[in-house]
Amino acid sequence: MTKEDGKSAKSAKRAKRADNTKGADNTKGAEGGKGAEGIGSVDSARRARAPRGHAARPVDVLDDLLGEHHYLGRMLKVLEDQVALISVGQKPDARIMSDVMHYVTNFPDRYHHAKEDLVYEKLMLRDPAARAAVRHETQAKRRIVADSQSLFDLLEDYRAGHADVEPEQIRLRVLAYIKELRRHMEAEELKIYPRAKKALRTADWREVDERVKTVIDPVFGAEVAENYQALHDHYVESVKEVEIGKLRARFEETVILIESASALIAGVKRIRARIGEHKQDAKRRNREFGRELLKMKDLSTAREGLSTLRETNREMRATLEGDVKSLWKGTSEAARRPFQYLSKESSPLLRWLARPPQN
Ligand SMILES: [Fe+2]
Repeated sequence: MTKEDGKSAKSAKRAKRADNTKGADNTKGAEGGKGAEGIGSVDSARRARAPRGHAARPVDVLDDLLGEHHYLGRMLKVLEDQVALISVGQKPDARIMSDVMHYVTNFPDRYHHAKEDLVYEKLMLRDPAARAAVRHETQAKRRIVADSQSLFDLLEDYRAGHADVEPEQIRLRVLAYIKELRRHMEAEELKIYPRAKKALRTADWREVDERVKTVIDPVFGAEVAENYQALHDHYVESVKEVEIGKLRARFEETVILIESASALIAGVKRIRARIGEHKQDAKRRNREFGRELLKMKDLSTAREGLSTLRETNREMRATLEGDVKSLWKGTSEAARRPFQYLSKESSPLLRWLARPPQN
């Protein structure tokens, strides 16, 4: 690519970026738009609230920020699934990856961070002890925003088939980006938001709320923007696959438990039958001996007969014990056999049940 080509490609990208934010009217008043529910719940919850303006509470603004983190988290998962394909030598969906970064650069990086900046500004004023943490995450945010843009540019080149962009390069860049953005969001949620909730006053929240427009998310909101339809559909499909996978895992676990329980019940029945058989046999022998005892004329013969009976009973008991042990061993093996079909996704309890016997 020549220098001129590079320049024109970059200006085309810039034009595309600018154009895409116009793809749908995503910035609305605090009341938000009305329409069919999107797959996300945050916008619908936001819209369900009465127009705030006069009495913005921390929960309103912080709920919005947390909801936007939630959406970002979904997007990072989409990226993660794509780099997982590269890791196993498969081709990722370059368009989906590029769409994710287009969304990030045009929505969270613009509106979410702008709203946070206002909250941070107020927090520095109200809680000077929070300044170091706020400065740290503000700098991190600046780096992330710059990184979002350069990653988007790289993904656009990859999508366009530029030979100098290797999948491994994409994999490493995307993984580093995901790691840092997740760290940053977690730090905000654990360290910054709770302090802001405590320190900011009602007037501060009202000002933040009034100064930043509520943005209807173009991927997860009520109205999916045309240029994000493919990304929206991709996400919906990926969620469906996970749900079907979970259902399948749950169904398999149920089958494993039923098979195992059936083997246990059948084994216990066999053991009970064997004990019953022993009791009947012992009763019969003792009854027969009692009848013979009555016929015996001298004491020594009776004593000898009694001793033989005791020995026979001991032998029968030992045989019974051996049989019961062997039956229990077979039952236990049969009950454990279905657990060999457990997968990594199976519940921890089932995996615990399937552990090898402790000696
Ligand atoms: Fe954030």
